[in-house]
Amino acid sequence: MSSPAWRRIALTLVLLFGAAEAHNTLLPAGAVRYAPSGVPDRVVALPGEDPSTALTIAWRTDASVATARLQIAVAGDAPDLADAAREVRAHSTSLETGNRAARHHHARVTGLQPGTLYAYRVQGQDTWSEWFHIRTAAREPEPFSFLYFGDAQNSVKSLYSRVIREAWRRAPGAALMIHAGDLVSGRDQRDDDEWGEWFEAGSFLHATALVVPAAGNHEHFEAGAGAAARYVLSPHWAAQFPVPRTGWAELPHTTYSFDHQGVRFIVLDSTSAIDHGTAAGQAAWLEPLLADNPNRWTVVAYHHPMFSASLGRDNPSLREHWLPLFERYGVDLVLQGHDHVYGRGAHLGEGAHADSAGAGPVYVVSVAGPKQYRLSPEAQRAMDRDAENTQLYQVVHVSPERLRYESRTATGELYDAFELVKDAAGRKRLVTAQDSLMAPRRCPHPRTPSGRTDRCWDGVEW
Ligand SMILES: [Fe+2]
Repeated sequence: MSSPAWRRIALTLVLLFGAAEAHNTLLPAGAVRYAPSGVPDRVVALPGEDPSTALTIAWRTDASVATARLQIAVAGDAPDLADAAREVRAHSTSLETGNRAARHHHARVTGLQPGTLYAYRVQGQDTWSEWFHIRTAAREPEPFSFLYFGDAQNSVKSLYSRVIREAWRRAPGAALMIHAGDLVSGRDQRDDDEWGEWFEAGSFLHATALVVPAAGNHEHFEAGAGAAARYVLSPHWAAQFPVPRTGWAELPHTTYSFDHQGVRFIVLDSTSAIDHGTAAGQAAWLEPLLADNPNRWTVVAYHHPMFSASLGRDNPSLREHWLPLFERYGVDLVLQGHDHVYGRGAHLGEGAHADSAGAGPVYVVSVAGPKQYRLSPEAQRAMDRDAENTQLYQVVHVSPERLRYESRTATGELYDAFELVKDAAGRKRLVTAQDSLMAPRRCPHPRTPSGRTDRCWDGVEW
């Protein structure tokens, strides 16, 4: 299996017969590792409607746990946490998967104290999870950090896990982790194994910082055929990610907003916008959030880029319906995925260049996982910084006066950095960091082992 000739033959067979997805996890065919049990797993924390006083915890068990509870207490140094804990009853739903029937639970916890470290655990069948620590947001704007990841999607345990773990080592205590869609590849009857790998990759981090997920096209599957084919949201999504109930009524699981210590975070659903024509509807929901916004900063996350950076891609409906609002109301940072390259900046077609050194939004495309595409010539001309063949994570440090953005490679090397600085009147400027950065990274070969020229990595784990 290790010789180049055999590898090429195997890759060709995979491409011909469509068996690639069988190798998208580390699980051998037929192996069962991620089936639910009575012991809680897949514990994940999400923001509540007001993260200074509320948060939501979701977890999974098998069907033996019909109803479940969460216990939460102000974290203390003594181990008697259960004595002081209050209980919150969870909402529970069933989900049939390739790993048998699961029971997904979530508890929406309210009435918390701002800026306070809490300990919580979740119930299984005659057992509990460990106690996790999580801090509520401060009521007022205060400095904090958050992480942002582009697509994990493929070989998640094998090759994405090192990225999220390196990110946490760089920014331990980050308050939030934004995932800009395509967390898994899905659609292959082994979706539940892929989600198992995603939760294993981040382990306790998902329960320790607030997870802020945006749905990508790979969190949807195609229903119907021909002209009637439509993308439908995977049932895993709503079961696992009970997001704040602040979204557009038509898309309550994939659009939402919340304020965290002086930042308004807004998550949009670009798959629905593009494939279901809801860009205008989402814009109508979005505009009041931007127009009436007391926060110093605004960060928007979704999956498909406003300005595509990889070959052969373009999403004009986003520029038609969303871009004017972002510019009119001064969105600061737009975090995206989908293109499997890195690109910061904007390109408006042949020869036109939106200079992000002005006061406009800064658009970023990034990729955390191993699937790597090729930059388009337009992106290479117009992006302020770009990369191929590079797994990345981003750390953003926020204070009332400035927002410092760092993009780092899988090994922690600084690849891109800038600061947005705002004065008391809210006037903004972009300062390119003076850090010395490595040369732009490019794919080292003209084609992949399977012969593709639009990718740098075939997307198959061997
Ligand atoms: Fe995607």
